[in-house]
Amino acid sequence: MTNPIPYQETPAMLYSITEFEPLLRPLLFKPQIRSVCEIGAENGGFSEILWHHVEVGILSHTTIIEPEPKDKIIELCQDPRMILCEGPSLSALADLRSHDLYILDGDHNYHTVLNELRLIYASNRHAIVIAHDVGWPCGRRDQYYSPSCLPAHAIRPHSFDIAISPGQSGAAPHGMISAGAYATALEEGGKENGVLTAIEDFITERQGHTFFSIPIFHGLAVIHPADHPLGSWLYETMVPNPAWMQILRRLEDNRLRNWLGLIELGQRLAVVTQNMHRSNGEVP
Ligand SMILES: C[S@@+](CC[C@H](N)C(=O)[O-])C[C@H]1O[C@@H](n2cnc3c(N)ncnc32)[C@H](O)[C@@H]1O
Repeated sequence: MTNPIPYQETPAMLYSITEFEPLLRPLLFKPQIRSVCEIGAENGGFSEILWHHVEVGILSHTTIIEPEPKDKIIELCQDPRMILCEGPSLSALADLRSHDLYILDGDHNYHTVLNELRLIYASNRHAIVIAHDVGWPCGRRDQYYSPSCLPAHAIRPHSFDIAISPGQSGAAPHGMISAGAYATALEEGGKENGVLTAIEDFITERQGHTFFSIPIFHGLAVIHPADHPLGSWLYETMVPNPAWMQILRRLEDNRLRNWLGLIELGQRLAVVTQNMHRSNGEVP
């Protein structure tokens, strides 16, 4: 009898770049990659993976750029080979020595991503950049963690509590809400809006660089100089064939719709419960 496949429970929504670990791990073992800069660490899931590679000497060092580092990040950065830059990416990158690989997952808006790419490639023409969130919701729609810290021309009209849903360019009656954690542009699409648009514009502005993307877990893009020695290897290792691409796009769309369906149910249930409390004369 064959062994049953071990069951591993996953959260209702998989959103972290950590989900790409099986795909990214072989890249960390390449001799061309000795140093990594991670922008936007949040709970430190991917930072911990990087630290393991530093600990055993596969990477020489890692820099983490994060304006609000959690305790776990501070703890990981007790290792002198893990360097914490506490602040926004655009100030940190301006003073940072170059790294071989950059993981972009910080402030998901056009201005920040375009200028992160400009700063990275100004410091190292040969860098490889992995950018998360090039699919829905941020691919074509800006998000801002701290809009007041960005120049006025970089900010679109936005809201901290708008609901958004795939296929609806404005606000949706139900959908994903940031609930104050970050602001979302009121409109999706158009010029200079979103992470994927920033990457496309960077590739147009900077001759000699190229990128490809993978349509799962909110989308991942890989950017590199067209003549990078790992260019073909990256493409062959990471890009599914066209039939698989089609299937994965559909699966991602389905996954998002099911998740948003759950959110909608929760939002409707909250209203029904509140009305019930009110009609019973209870304070909700
Ligand atoms: C989407 S989360 C990162 C998720 C994480 N990489 C993962 O997949 O598990 C975005 C992170 O970027 C940070 N952040 C916000 N603005 C930033 C900026 N300007 N520069 C760097 N990081 C930023 C936020 O504090 C947050 O921790």
